Amino acid sequence: MKYRKRTASDFVFKEELGHGSYSTVYKAIDKHDLKRVYAIKVCSKAHIIREAKVKYVTIEKNTLNLLARENHPGIVKLYYTFHDADNLYFALDFAAGGELLSLLHKYRTFNEQLSRHFTIQLIDTVEYIHSKGVIHRDLKPENVLLDKEGRLMITDFGAATTVTKAELDGESRNDLNATNSTSSFVGTAEYVSPELLLYNKCTTSSDIWALGCMIYQFLEGCPPFRGSNELKTFEKIVELDYTWNPNKYATNVNGNSNKNINPMIIDTVRKVLVIDDNERITISDLKREPWFNGIDWNNKFDIWKGIFT
Ligand code: ADE
Repeated sequence: MKYRKRTASDFVFKEELGHGSYSTVYKAIDKHDLKRVYAIKVCSKAHIIREAKVKYVTIEKNTLNLLARENHPGIVKLYYTFHDADNLYFALDFAAGGELLSLLHKYRTFNEQLSRHFTIQLIDTVEYIHSKGVIHRDLKPENVLLDKEGRLMITDFGAATTVTKAELDGESRNDLNATNSTSSFVGTAEYVSPELLLYNKCTTSSDIWALGCMIYQFLEGCPPFRGSNELKTFEKIVELDYTWNPNKYATNVNGNSNKNINPMIIDTVRKVLVIDDNERITISDLKREPWFNGIDWNNKFDIWKGIFT
């Protein structure tokens, strides 16, 4: 069984888990080993060709293969790819905890402790992704999944790009070709970096910007820059037009521990949400922020604890 190429008939397809612009993800069980559950991403060939998405699907497969090599806990693993006349299939890790966005909607906001737990795992994973020369380019809570223990896994590398060693070592990247231009940008408005909007430039630091937007969203419940339409959102981003509402829980007298946002977190986010990507905090400096005091970044066991352990 191990050596034969898989096909869709090797799996029992269950409920839909989600869908993107050119794919639908289903829960699926391996018929030959009923204990093995996967999330199978099904991409319609006709749709991919019609919408000119071949490039994105290829990038996603190559990037997942590259990142899967070291078994990093924060990356959704790709186990098999196969195709038939109609579809392409990606058999991925099933993330039993669903999307981080759904958990955030359920709780509305995360408290400081939960926000820190997710931020630490995000930092460790984004650092790993960048160390392999990959920029995700579409980091947001919908693309972060949770396993059954509440450990996070980054998914959806369809917008990713790779950088050369020289670029990784500090040179920036200017994506000036048409497919990467801002007018056809593939990211999500609320998390897009100012350098992409202003200079059509994409660097590893653009992922750090998105990370800063997510930290804010964990504590406030919505991303820092959100206008009534995409253009207004973009205007807010390039003007760094965001505010914290530190006292919005002040009327809650029932002992809500999330009453005031810790100034240490506000300070960390301030160093991330910097317009000039050259001035923005780096991952290594981010790890040294006081909010993470006491974390041993070399202790993977410590970083990759579940929520309940
Ligand atoms: N939704 C999208 N991808 C998923 C995955 N890998 N596991 C669970 N739910 C998902």
